[in-house]
Amino acid sequence: MAQDSSHPAAGTALITGASSGIGHEFALLFARSGYDLVLVARNRSVLDGLASQARDEFGVQAFVCPKDLSVQTAPEELFRELQQQGIAVDVLINDAGFAMQGPFVENELTTLLNMLQVNIVTLTHLTRLFLPPMIERGRGKVLNMASIGSYMPGPLMAAYFASKAYVLSFSEALSNEVEGTGVTITALCPGPTRTRFAARAKLTDTRAFRGTLMAAADVAQEGFEALMKGKTVVITGFKYRMQLLPTPLVPRRLLAHFARRYHETPSDQGVTAPSWATAPERSGSSHAAQP
Ligand SMILES: NC(=O)c1ccc[n+]([C@@H]2O[C@H](COP(=O)([O-])OP(=O)(O)OC[C@H]3O[C@@H](n4cnc5c(N)ncnc54)[C@H](OP(=O)(O)O)[C@@H]3O)[C@@H](O)[C@H]2O)c1
Repeated sequence: MAQDSSHPAAGTALITGASSGIGHEFALLFARSGYDLVLVARNRSVLDGLASQARDEFGVQAFVCPKDLSVQTAPEELFRELQQQGIAVDVLINDAGFAMQGPFVENELTTLLNMLQVNIVTLTHLTRLFLPPMIERGRGKVLNMASIGSYMPGPLMAAYFASKAYVLSFSEALSNEVEGTGVTITALCPGPTRTRFAARAKLTDTRAFRGTLMAAADVAQEGFEALMKGKTVVITGFKYRMQLLPTPLVPRRLLAHFARRYHETPSDQGVTAPSWATAPERSGSSHAAQP
């Protein structure tokens, strides 16, 4: 981004999903830390407001790039627009994403495919475009938004959990590949967090979202600190780190059972569950994570 030499920026951070929730908090954190911003989401007016706030309060530059990231060509368009503007991206925050609740066979097909496009394909595409220039410059950071759901199968949110398992695996593998280049890759794994996510996914009436939720600002802060240290994986919140500790030892079908219980709405309770899953809760079940 063209910079005022009296006030050199710390770098430029591109943040997808900047119009709301955790992405919005990331944008404020980067602006506060002196980074110029590239803000991406569909809601132009919210992005414009955030860009003005960043300029006025923090004296950084902010470039608004409204995009529907479920459109296959969006990453390429974004990359070219930034090239034309001469903007080099030092930090890529792949935050945009959404979920859908309900039995897989009832998931509305277009929404389902759009979710996979945003959560997996666009995230991969953006990383493939922006990572090589970072490696060439010998510095850069990528943060990919995973979830505590990355660690288990998620009945009634089957495709969403699988999409987040992809993000974690992809990020861990890439982190290994880029070692020694000056670039780091971080996967951020939040648990239930207070944003528009739950209402959009029709999750508000589930056990996972009726409990205590983390604040989006706290999740972004933990992600920011881990990113700056170049950590590969960060699970936000002590409670969720503890809950996930035993997961490698728990049979995956049991994890699926517990994950299902946390994401059932009252209307799902009539949906047939396997007989073993309806057995009385065993001691130690409280260790199961709430994705
Ligand atoms: N909240 C949680 O409990 C939780 C837990 C674990 C992981 N996560 C992950 O955290 C990330 C951020 O979610 P959030 O909780 O902050 O939810 P949020 O408040 O709903 O924010 C989602 C962001 O993604 C953007 N987005 C969604 N679809 C898009 C599309 N097609 N094109 C462009 N932008 C799109 C939205 O912008 P527009 O609508 O303006 O386009 C918005 O800025 C997601 O990847 C989510 O899976 C959330």
